[in-house]
Amino acid sequence: MGADLGGVKPGDVVAVWGAGGVGQVAARAALLLGAERVISIDRIPERLQQAEKYMGVETIDYTKTDVTAELKERSGGRGPDVCIEAVGMEAHSTGPDFLYDQAKQQLRLQTDRPTAIREAIYACRKGGSVFCLGVFAGLVDKFPLGAVMNKGLTLRGAQQHGQRYIPMLLDRIATGELPTRHLATHPDAAGRRPDGLPDVQAEGGRVRPCGVPAVTGGTGFPAHRFGRPDRGSPGGLRGTHRPLLRHSRVPGRLRAGIAAGE
Ligand SMILES: NC(=O)c1ccc[n+]([C@@H]2O[C@H](COP(=O)([O-])OP(=O)(O)OC[C@H]3O[C@@H](n4cnc5c(N)ncnc54)[C@H](O)[C@@H]3O)[C@@H](O)[C@H]2O)c1
Repeated sequence: MGADLGGVKPGDVVAVWGAGGVGQVAARAALLLGAERVISIDRIPERLQQAEKYMGVETIDYTKTDVTAELKERSGGRGPDVCIEAVGMEAHSTGPDFLYDQAKQQLRLQTDRPTAIREAIYACRKGGSVFCLGVFAGLVDKFPLGAVMNKGLTLRGAQQHGQRYIPMLLDRIATGELPTRHLATHPDAAGRRPDGLPDVQAEGGRVRPCGVPAVTGGTGFPAHRFGRPDRGSPGGLRGTHRPLLRHSRVPGRLRAGIAAGE
């Protein structure tokens, strides 16, 4: 969705901040939309390796490189055409801006740390597009509105439009164009924090906790979540439920994939 609504076009140079599950998928999506170069930015080596190996994109470790200068270098001196921020309100950085953001957040003078989106805005080429995929809750400080205005940037953001994108994403996962299996790094209870949640940050190799649906004798998904032909209006469906029916393809496909050992 970030690559699509960010307006990635064939031949573009695209930079993606954050190589978690969201950033890796956005980076791959940019390639699938025809971007010429896609550069994934993070500090966790295992995630950067995953982005290179499975998503087929270039990487930058922001703890070792001046990101803005490097992006300029890799985009013919202009900056990326599209910059996607897939980090969100808990952004980290090695620079003084991070200390500033952290102090203001802890003093409740801002709700979120806009460290990565700020860098994306500064790095983007004039007339380019910045898409905010990372989640922000409220107010941020030192937002470079002057750069947005003077460079003529297009700035967008969104929560994923599930009903619009998920059927297409599942099709691409099924054809192998969009690899996701490597992201499910800890489907069990190992590595949990004292509060019972998985400690995703504890080890760099961890990306996603995930539930494993029952694959024999049932899907593990309640049928009513996917639409039921025996409910609602003629044909069994009210208009608003219609897109959800497409999800009914999911369990079968998952079962087939797992049975095939993919
Ligand atoms: N828009 C949507 O529909 C949607 C959907 C799901 C999740 N999200 C949001 O997307 C964001 C990413 O999700 P995720 O699951 O991949 O999270 P994640 O925590 O697994 O990944 C975030 C990555 O960003 C990296 N990072 C931190 N600071 C950085 C910086 N300054 N520059 C570059 N990388 C930096 C971290 O090292 C980490 O690997 C979160 O804010 C999440 O809430 C959005």
